[in-house]
Amino acid sequence: MTDQLVPRVQLNDGFSIPQLGFGVFKVDPGETERIVSDALEVGYRHLDTARIYGNEEGVGRAIAASGIPREELFITTKLWNDDQGTESVRTAFEASRERLGLEYVDLYLIHWPTPARDRYVETWKAFEQLQQTDGLRSIGVSNFLSHHLERLIAETEIVPAVDQIELHPYHQQPATASFAEEHGIAIEAWGPLGQGKYPLFDLPEVTSAAAAHDVTPAQVVIRWHLQRGHILFPKSNSRERMAENFDVLGFELSEDEVAAITGLEREGRVSAHPDEFN
Ligand SMILES: NC(=O)c1ccc[n+]([C@@H]2O[C@H](COP(=O)([O-])OP(=O)(O)OC[C@H]3O[C@@H](n4cnc5c(N)ncnc54)[C@H](OP(=O)(O)O)[C@@H]3O)[C@@H](O)[C@H]2O)c1
Repeated sequence: MTDQLVPRVQLNDGFSIPQLGFGVFKVDPGETERIVSDALEVGYRHLDTARIYGNEEGVGRAIAASGIPREELFITTKLWNDDQGTESVRTAFEASRERLGLEYVDLYLIHWPTPARDRYVETWKAFEQLQQTDGLRSIGVSNFLSHHLERLIAETEIVPAVDQIELHPYHQQPATASFAEEHGIAIEAWGPLGQGKYPLFDLPEVTSAAAAHDVTPAQVVIRWHLQRGHILFPKSNSRERMAENFDVLGFELSEDEVAAITGLEREGRVSAHPDEFN
């Protein structure tokens, strides 16, 4: 399969993003170049990293070594919490862009709202300025709940292109997802497989669909995300599982199968609450 078959999601700023990509949270910096090179060989063209992952250089080396034309790639990185604030955004962004070795970054995100610091509005205004430069295309946020988005929309000019939130069958964040949809903000699902912390692959709603379509439970969960309209980038260190996770375009879940998995929601957050993580 090639990336050309991966659907693209239209963003509110005119750019588009491949709906299925590859994430590198917890990919060891020393192994990142090899793992990302594998992912690019498998066919992924959308990569999701962050300053705090410590592996932007490895992602950049794999991109440079691949020889893949830049316009075929979509690269996201994120501003860490310490770098929020009017003065620090540009320096932090330029450092990330240099570590990635890219002339431009496709998407830059505020990683967490960190509301106790109360700097995400001024940080977003700095993102709006940064987007005027040649080094950056789209701007968005991560881990923003609907009240954080509401405040940004009220106090700034540009509506974020995406909100990257924890989202898997046990934690679907319907309030934030529907607020985002109403405002033209695309939803990116992080931890799409629940980070392996829940037995998602053993649930009958997942295993019965896997048996019916002769695919694996992980492929069912990824397919569920795609059919729900989420952008996602499951992570794997294993080339075999990378290929498995990418091979999800040759079957379709029925409406009932999608509804059964959607029915698994139980507010099962694996990470910190965005209102409390500072
Ligand atoms: N914005 C944020 O705050 C935030 C937070 C977390 C993550 N993210 C982004 O979202 C991406 C994805 O989320 P994530 O990495 O946290 O979790 P995830 O993709 O839900 O899960 C990754 C885990 O699932 C395992 N796995 C992958 N494919 C599998 C398969 N086919 N069968 C069985 N197990 C499989 C992986 O193990 P192996 O590696 O051994 O295959 C790994 O332990 C991250 O890499 C990162 O880019 C963003």
